Amino acid sequence: MNEPGSESGSASADIDVSLVRNSDVDWDSFDSDAYFSYNYGELRPDDAQIIQVVANHFQASLRGSALGQAIDVGAGVNLYPAMVMLPYAASVTLVERAFTNCDWLTTELKGPRPSWGQFWKAVSSGRAAYQLIQKPADVLQDRTTVVRGNIFDLKPGLYDLGTMFFVAESITTRTDEFRRAARLFVNSLKPGAPFAAAFMRDSSGYFVAGKHFPACSVSDADVERALAPFARNLNIVMVESNDLRDGYGGMMVATGRKK
Ligand SMILES: C[S@@+](CC[C@H](N)C(=O)[O-])C[C@H]1O[C@@H](n2cnc3c(N)ncnc32)[C@H](O)[C@@H]1O
Repeated sequence: MNEPGSESGSASADIDVSLVRNSDVDWDSFDSDAYFSYNYGELRPDDAQIIQVVANHFQASLRGSALGQAIDVGAGVNLYPAMVMLPYAASVTLVERAFTNCDWLTTELKGPRPSWGQFWKAVSSGRAAYQLIQKPADVLQDRTTVVRGNIFDLKPGLYDLGTMFFVAESITTRTDEFRRAARLFVNSLKPGAPFAAAFMRDSSGYFVAGKHFPACSVSDADVERALAPFARNLNIVMVESNDLRDGYGGMMVATGRKK
């Protein structure tokens, strides 16, 4: 039986059955601590560049707006998308499929590890709206809710701003699921809501604590094709990154507003 929200049906002539669907993966075996240590134990230049792009985008889009409802989809163990939305968010919902990551996030929010200080410094440096937040860890904990959920089940039109970092292309090998995840993320926002989404370029998948997870190899043209029908002011920035692992060709960050 297919899980709710998974691509439906058995393989047809034009679908390669060797492809890995999102619902084929045991996401609850995702090792949160290993992923955190490898990726967020310290701030890397690629994440620092993404932070600049995304914080500038939200600042330019939301300066003077009332606080809204924010969503980060497929949060994993990454707190910096929530940090980047914090000055503009009355609430931040972290939607994540893996039980392990939900548990990790819930604990982490009560006492974030020291490396998040480096990320907050990069987020807030030179930006008045962020610097108004004196105790970011406390504000983050107060405003954030962790929800175990599925990108393919997101309801449309609920959120005022949103992020999705390394998710649509990193949860499946299937192009149709990549496109659908990108569409449903943007669709979860209200018309006009600003968003930011980061992607691995040409990824062949990734290991977390020795377990392989799938990816769909995408280019900037694929990201544009996936987002452009639902977004305006779409801008895609290439981010240099080559030392994280083998099997990828850098990172990309897309910003825009929901149509
Ligand atoms: C490559 S990780 C990215 C995590 C995090 N956003 C980051 O920036 O590091 C992909 C994340 O998507 C989550 N995920 C996988 N399938 C999902 C689904 N259907 N809905 C929501 N999240 C999902 C995984 O559990 C994992 O945390």
